[in-house]
Amino acid sequence: MTTLDTFTTTNYTKINSKGSFTFSAPSNIALVKYWGKIENQIPANPSLSFTLNNCKTVTTLQYESKTEKNISFDLLFEGQPKESFRPKIQKYFERIQDLCPYVLDYHFTIDTKNTFPHSSGIASSASGMAALSVNIITLEKLVNPDETDDYYMQKASLLARLGSGSACRSIKGNIVVWGETESIENSSDLFGVDFLYEVNSVFENYQDTILLVDKGEKQVSSTVGHELMHNHPFAERRFQQAHENIAKLKEILKSGNLNEFIALVESEALTLHSMMMTSMPYFILMKPNTLEIINQIWKFRETTNVPVCFTLDAGANVHVLYPNKYKEEVQKFITDELAKYCQNNQFIHDEMGFGAEDLS
Ligand code: DP6
Repeated sequence: MTTLDTFTTTNYTKINSKGSFTFSAPSNIALVKYWGKIENQIPANPSLSFTLNNCKTVTTLQYESKTEKNISFDLLFEGQPKESFRPKIQKYFERIQDLCPYVLDYHFTIDTKNTFPHSSGIASSASGMAALSVNIITLEKLVNPDETDDYYMQKASLLARLGSGSACRSIKGNIVVWGETESIENSSDLFGVDFLYEVNSVFENYQDTILLVDKGEKQVSSTVGHELMHNHPFAERRFQQAHENIAKLKEILKSGNLNEFIALVESEALTLHSMMMTSMPYFILMKPNTLEIINQIWKFRETTNVPVCFTLDAGANVHVLYPNKYKEEVQKFITDELAKYCQNNQFIHDEMGFGAEDLS
């Protein structure tokens, strides 16, 4: 069995020099949601996501060897110092230092940028932590070149998870499962795995348009939201439901039954938000325009029979999901009917993608 010990690097050679790598990693959208965790970023339930293609973080990691062994880094966002990111990255290095002791031998300069508009308010922790982790693993390949490609991929996902849970699903594409669950062979709580089962062609190039309903700071962060699943009255049933939904979705992805797909995906989104509304303290992240959009999508679907549906992440924004075949009519509907509910009419067209890329 793969345990955390499998991923502890003990034999490595210090490279006394400097260098740099650049990797991009995309965001992802969960269809079955991760909500709730236990210690060390272990998920309370399994999740399944589509990897995206356009919303990406691009990160350059410069390393320079040093004599003292400690965590040492500078952080830049679009080339300018960005101190507000420091606590999250500091915590990340603290969490990975036992697995990757070689990181203590280097001073790092981390320069990061996003391909989506700076002002969009989209959380970039999934793409950001994934891009950083792929860079760290590339350094590991230099100091410890003897492992397999699979090992490096799994460890990159594991490191990303320690930065932010959902980030472990952004290393690869185009469908990833994270969290041990009976219906998915080799699934693990430690890292995301490729969905290796048959997928119907209707899901090829599936489209996701992200409607930017609210760009303000969220009242409750995901981290606090996960916490509130402890002692939540409905938690156990919900965690069990996520296992059931992954098993159902596995069959739906094979059959291509879009009615069943829509019902499962929308129910997952509303269940996520109902967990928030029934926590103590309770909170609501949806905005009036989130509900307007949901109602418009339902109306459009009913009148046109176009299989378009929505999902939500931990915020007010709406992800509109639809088959590539209906791209033209759905995108027209979005521009004509939904853009007006978005802040500054902003939305981002995205689609399924394939994970991190080497841009070095
Ligand atoms: C609602 O991965 O952001 O988007 O592990 O605390 O960093 P942390 O949480 P995060 O939670 C994401 C929750 C979600 C659902 C999902 O992506 O599965």
